[in-house]
Amino acid sequence: MSKHRLSVVVTRRLPEVVETRLSELFDVTLREDDTPMTRAELAEAMKAADVLVPTLTDEIDNALIGQAGDRLKLIANYGAGVDHIDVATARQRGILVSNTPGVLTDDTADMTMALILAVTRRIPEGLAVMQRGEWQGWAPTALLGGRVGGRRLGILGMGRIGQAVARRAAAFGMQVHYHNRRRLRAETEKALDATYWESLDQMTARMDVLSINCPHTPSTFHLMNARRLKLMKPDAVIVNTSRGEVIDENALTRMLAAGELSGAGLDVYEHGTDVNPRLRELRNVVLLPHMGSATVEGRIEMGEKVIINIKTFDDGHRPPDQVVP
Ligand code: DGY
Repeated sequence: MSKHRLSVVVTRRLPEVVETRLSELFDVTLREDDTPMTRAELAEAMKAADVLVPTLTDEIDNALIGQAGDRLKLIANYGAGVDHIDVATARQRGILVSNTPGVLTDDTADMTMALILAVTRRIPEGLAVMQRGEWQGWAPTALLGGRVGGRRLGILGMGRIGQAVARRAAAFGMQVHYHNRRRLRAETEKALDATYWESLDQMTARMDVLSINCPHTPSTFHLMNARRLKLMKPDAVIVNTSRGEVIDENALTRMLAAGELSGAGLDVYEHGTDVNPRLRELRNVVLLPHMGSATVEGRIEMGEKVIINIKTFDDGHRPPDQVVP
């Protein structure tokens, strides 16, 4: 007798190769257009499916999980961050949650370096000069930025991505410092040539560049609040490729506008697409539309991880990337 095929609902368009493989393995419902599902559509999907494949644009909160059907057994998130899923409530309901860690580490770390370089070396300003056809030729004092080599980089959150940023920054000659909930093992710290700061306040006050690489959790929400942002040196730069909620965006905007901070490179925002409009007007800010992990290779590998998580679950085992609250 042939095995019952798991019914899987995918909430967003995924790379074609991923959708094809999912369809070969499972009874899949794919999204026709690439818009996020409405709450009603999500609720419907969670009633009907064995497995939901959401992504960070879907708010899977306790109310939605509470209404899920008894069939729903796995939420196989397409993405590493799970702050949009109430993992604890899912667990209480016996629904497993998995994610896709590891495969977007290097791409996100690359983008972190790109933002550090873009802000400190004023790349968007140079691009704008060229695009406006205003370039008059080389000049000794035109568009001078700061030298990245020798600067102190403070990494807030030294998980996989933080460590990948540390390796890249060291290759650029930066001095790497970090703050993390737990100090790294001595060998790892030594290999990264990274200096640990137990006090985030003290690290914040000493850095030339601060990179946010911690996940968004209740304890990291507004970790960079107005008080702590004010500890930064006025010539320092802050970069965020993690989650917007870690920084108080209004406080940051006020400081940048007042010249109390030299610049910022942001890939993520506190209120999603509702970006503080004043940020867009500031010369010393580089804004990107959450594209830290946006590579063709990364997106396919994220899909492969989702498939492995579902398949392993289907075979009666714990998904390799199960998230535990
Ligand atoms: C994730 O997977 O959580 C990333 O933020 C996507 O870029």
